[in-house]
Amino acid sequence: MSESNLKSMADLVSLSKRRGFVFQSSEVYGGLSSCYDYGPLGVELKNNIKNRWWKTMTLREDVVGIDASIFMHPQVWKASGHVDGFNDPMVDCKQCKSRYRADQIDTSKPCPACGSKDTFTEPRDFNLMFKTQMGPVEDSSSTVYMRPETAQGIFVNFLNVQSTMRMKLPFGIAQIGKAFRNEITPGNFVFRMREFEQMEMQYFLKPGTQMESFEKWREIRWQWHIDNGLRADRIRWKQHGPDELAHYADAAWDIEYQFAHGWGEMEGIHSRTDFDLTQHEKFSGKSLSYVDQMDGNKKYVPYVVETSVGADRCFLAVMSDAYRLENEGQGDSERVVMKFHPKLAPVKTAILPLMKKPELEDVARKLYDDVSSDYMSEYDVSGSIGKRYRRQDEIGTPFCMTVDYDSLTDQSVTIRDRDTMKQERINVSQVKNYLKDHFKF
Ligand code: GAP
Repeated sequence: MSESNLKSMADLVSLSKRRGFVFQSSEVYGGLSSCYDYGPLGVELKNNIKNRWWKTMTLREDVVGIDASIFMHPQVWKASGHVDGFNDPMVDCKQCKSRYRADQIDTSKPCPACGSKDTFTEPRDFNLMFKTQMGPVEDSSSTVYMRPETAQGIFVNFLNVQSTMRMKLPFGIAQIGKAFRNEITPGNFVFRMREFEQMEMQYFLKPGTQMESFEKWREIRWQWHIDNGLRADRIRWKQHGPDELAHYADAAWDIEYQFAHGWGEMEGIHSRTDFDLTQHEKFSGKSLSYVDQMDGNKKYVPYVVETSVGADRCFLAVMSDAYRLENEGQGDSERVVMKFHPKLAPVKTAILPLMKKPELEDVARKLYDDVSSDYMSEYDVSGSIGKRYRRQDEIGTPFCMTVDYDSLTDQSVTIRDRDTMKQERINVSQVKNYLKDHFKF
């Protein structure tokens, strides 16, 4: 059997649309640039990824979660540096007005959109935050921003969480939520969007202990991606060199994945010093120091190690990694199969009566009712069994269960394994145990 991996993003975009994973936003109106809607299977897969992240990060004594609002006091973004510094340099083509990031285009060459020569403006800073107005009066005093990262909601809640939950350093606060950036050059499907979702954790600690913690979190975060089923040779570390480090960071490493368009960042692990808390102290006039009872009631502003990962980029990596084309060009034996790790698969099992006959459907319906309360399941009776298997392969369903005429006499069903296509016969009464064994994580 021959097997190839995903060759182009176009193949993934097409499967995502065909099978209900991802749709272009507002498609009936021609779409909205770089915004996407997750369909029924996409939202299941993305939720499975988010749930795994939430469990990994918060089912621990030293990390708790929050859900902060998207709108925050405008001073937050002054303090964080986003109002003055969250810019990309951009150039415009004077002819066709196409806009490019200055660091991503060779301005000595013709405009890629219209082909005209020497027509670019000088680079100008472009702030990536979306602005809107809060309240009935539209003036500069009512300007608020759509948060460009979830992290600041955690920083400004540091003391609320520490005191109400009686947390002792070191401890972390985790959050999953939407973030918005008016990217100049979005693209590559859900890799770079203007509305996306982040899963961030800020780990507060005593100054001087940050490197030990940083290394520990690097290990945990790497293992999390491996446990999502990503192949180890498709992820790698990228260290930020001294000239790439943000001014507040004393160490930063990215976890990159080999996407169809090339290597790209999935997650950043940053040692952010006390920069953010100190800035919020300055701008709010409130102390955000911690009193360390374990160290003679010493008062200090904690340092922070941050793990920040995009839910959409994890989704894209999991989709890209799962994609396999088997027996290309070999007629009926060609198939696309999404080899998701079973714990992430959006649909866990499909119940397929061999034919649309009441006696078969009775048994199949009962089985569906029994299984679907514990596992996301599909019931499908339309089309040939071969076509139904292919559809389940394309959405990555680990097990299909077929009810046939023998089932009526031997009370057994055929269970087909997605990856090996091997089939085995088991008694209906054993189905739940079978699934329990195979979905044990
Ligand atoms: N608080 C730190 C922070 O926001 P970042 O490197 O700017 O750091 C973290 O973003 C993660 O968010 C990235 O590694 C990426 O996975 C995701 N991300 C950033 N911009 C994105 C975009 N435009 N579309 C999709 N995901 C994005």
